[in-house]
Amino acid sequence: MHRGSSLRPAVHIMTPSTSPRDVQRRHFLRWLAASPLLASAGGLSTFEDLIAQEAPRRTFDDLVTTAQEALDVFDLEKVAASKVPLAHWGYIMTGVDGEETQANNRAALERIYLRARRMIDVSRLDTRVTLLGREWPSPLLIAPAGSQRAFHPDGELATARAASARNHLQTLSTVTSTAVEEVNRARGEPVWYQLYARPNWNGTVALVQRVRDAGCPVIVLTVDLNGGSNRLTVERYGRIDERDCESCHREGGRADPVKPMLRGLPTGSRGGADASMTWDYIHQLRDITDQKIVVKGLVTSEDAELAVGYGVDAIWVSNHGGRAEGSGRGTVDALPEIAQAVAGRMPIIVDGGFRRGTDLFKGLARGATAVAIGRPYLWGLGAFGQEGIERVLEILTRELEITMRAVGTPSLADIGPHSIGVD
Ligand SMILES: Cc1cc2nc3c(=O)[nH]c(=O)nc-3n(C[C@H](O)[C@H](O)[C@H](O)COP(=O)(O)O)c2cc1C
Repeated sequence: MHRGSSLRPAVHIMTPSTSPRDVQRRHFLRWLAASPLLASAGGLSTFEDLIAQEAPRRTFDDLVTTAQEALDVFDLEKVAASKVPLAHWGYIMTGVDGEETQANNRAALERIYLRARRMIDVSRLDTRVTLLGREWPSPLLIAPAGSQRAFHPDGELATARAASARNHLQTLSTVTSTAVEEVNRARGEPVWYQLYARPNWNGTVALVQRVRDAGCPVIVLTVDLNGGSNRLTVERYGRIDERDCESCHREGGRADPVKPMLRGLPTGSRGGADASMTWDYIHQLRDITDQKIVVKGLVTSEDAELAVGYGVDAIWVSNHGGRAEGSGRGTVDALPEIAQAVAGRMPIIVDGGFRRGTDLFKGLARGATAVAIGRPYLWGLGAFGQEGIERVLEILTRELEITMRAVGTPSLADIGPHSIGVD
């Protein structure tokens, strides 16, 4: 099977047969086909042969050979699909069950339309946002994603360098393939650190202590995988990948190398989150660290109220990009009830299916303070490393700015529920 072929509609670029230039060329070819010169050269003899030879079909896919040539993030998706090993591509793309939740993240965004106002001075834009005491030039954030060296040899370092070059907030995954200290050096300042609670409390304490010592100001506690997840697409891709996975995955007799942040932690430290976790966990974390605490993976107003009550510093509305539970609900549709419950008491971050500037705008209009992306920057990484991620950030920033001008909202504060509608 051609890798990523399902992502590659075979769109052929053909010069319209009615264009004057084309007509001229066809005339020339017809003349050439009839010419004794060609007959004596042997080989091609018919007009059709010449056309086939002269106009090799190019596809749109061939047009993106550098990061800068990508026009939207989906261009980078196609390139990454052809470069990232199949099993790892499956890990990026997988959702759960039949991918309904992942699809609905997009569908919910597409149902929303923009209400563009005219004749407003949009010659100067203000996209600055303040998150937990720190100002950022853009509300576009980089969500945590594990194992990034599976997509490009530079992995999390490429992400950190791109985040640094374009000055975006980056959150590093617990299961990063590069240690936090190295990532912070590449980023030029400490990143936020995403925490999967360890099955062993002492393991959590040691991990939090390490990232605190590394200077990370914020712990992002992910709570949407505590019950496990039913990921089928990644299984399927793994089965059709014919490479020898063992050669990379086996280390010191283990079935899988231990991730750098989990090395040396008390036993049971390879597992995921803790199924027994309740809201008291926030208090436990508070007792061991003075870092800010963000809870990632909330999708209901009830949980938003609890988060406020338990004193978390920000809420991250997320369904893990449709890779956690099969709720079927797009995150942008969860935003209004959460924004209402939070009532401005803390920042709200959202992710899940955001692929265009218009999508970011819709998230902000629904009450998010900032919007994070997962797969799009992994596509950039898989396609062209650091440059690919920078291009993703550049494209989405430009698209958001165009949208803000088009809708008549010169600053983020001007964007609100009045800026959008749903049919
Ligand atoms: C390959 C991959 C790995 C991920 N790893 C983590 C992780 O380690 N921790 C976490 O909290 N979320 C993880 N996520 C979820 C993202 O942080 C984010 O919620 C999601 O990707 C956003 O949806 P999007 O991919 O549609 O933009 C991962 C997502 C992907 C695609």
